[in-house]
Amino acid sequence: MDWQVIRDDFPASTHHVYLNTAGIGITPLPVTVEMQRLLGAWSAHGATTPVFRDELGELERRARERAAELFRASPHELAFTGRVAESLHIVVDGLSWHSGDEVITSDEEVIYAPLYRLAQEHGVVVKRMTLPHDREELLKRFQSLLSSRTRFVWLSDTTNKTGIHLPTKEICALAHERGALVMFDGAQTAGQFPLDLHAMGCDAYAITGYKWLLGPYGCGLCYIRQEALAELRPHRLGRGELDHERCAYTPDPTARAFEFSVRNLVLRCGFGSALAYLAAMGIEAIWQRTMALRDYLWGELDALSGVRIASPRDPALNSAITCAIVEGIEPRAVVEAAWRANVVIVPTEVPAGRDNLRGVRISPAFYNTTEDLDRVLDVIRSLLAAR
Ligand SMILES: Cc1ncc(COP(=O)(O)O)c(C=O)c1O
Repeated sequence: MDWQVIRDDFPASTHHVYLNTAGIGITPLPVTVEMQRLLGAWSAHGATTPVFRDELGELERRARERAAELFRASPHELAFTGRVAESLHIVVDGLSWHSGDEVITSDEEVIYAPLYRLAQEHGVVVKRMTLPHDREELLKRFQSLLSSRTRFVWLSDTTNKTGIHLPTKEICALAHERGALVMFDGAQTAGQFPLDLHAMGCDAYAITGYKWLLGPYGCGLCYIRQEALAELRPHRLGRGELDHERCAYTPDPTARAFEFSVRNLVLRCGFGSALAYLAAMGIEAIWQRTMALRDYLWGELDALSGVRIASPRDPALNSAITCAIVEGIEPRAVVEAAWRANVVIVPTEVPAGRDNLRGVRISPAFYNTTEDLDRVLDVIRSLLAAR
């Protein structure tokens, strides 16, 4: 793989040192060009002209199939969504809740509100765990929170703050012994790691397209395992869901039951194009490249006195997401110094649990280079020297 040639597909990389794929990834040029073509055709032909309408329908079908292939699911288990929170709502609002039902989540999630509303409105108990950086300890702690009342588990497959990559398969097995449904937030995993949803065994999985999958903003997927589909009641219905002859709602037996009314076809097709781009490179190769860059970064950070990596060291628990603490310097000051040097990183913080941990997040992706990482390292070295 010629990574230098691939880098040419990322014009933002020539303007900036972009190290925030965990925030929003850079969309590669071929994907942008394809979306421009589709918008142009929409305007030139009108969306309902049969030839263009059929092309859009075909591209949408292929996008779903491509996603199913890439994430090892069946196309009928995938619903297009606009955001991770929407995927969580599909599951939370699709279940019926009883006082005393329990939900397990962690201190490092991004989306909590639907869970705490369950607590307020239905008397559901939300149990929140701090995630230790030791795999066995993490599983033990998770197991200790399970009970006969555990109904639902909501955890990030990879956390966005310190980049902990959870032992998802084991979590599913433990939760299923208690009859709980397990859903992961895969925003930081899909596109960063190879993913096999069937082998993982989760009941639902939220994917967003704009981070490591490098697709357009506002398009993602909700995976619902075949066996779990019947347990969830679609809470939103639109114009396509009524059998007009019988004046009756006829549920779609697939995950499409959770899509309703107007579909954003250009975004879906753009997302499909991003999936094709990544599949052509191979997720395994992408992951290896990303981890090699991460290893380089960690090696150099470890050599600096005054910098601490607050992401897990255990290779079974870590990812490319790097939380670095520059001692004695406010994370915001590090980020602003980086911006002045045209390097894009962000502050990160775990609000509860791990000692109010605050640092900067550096998230290298395959389109970065070691020279990019040297630039952020130079910023940190200068700050340490001036301290
Ligand atoms: C782990 C994780 N989940 C979810 C999101 C975003 O959620 P939504 O698509 O609902 O805005 C992010 C964005 O930073 C994230 O890192």
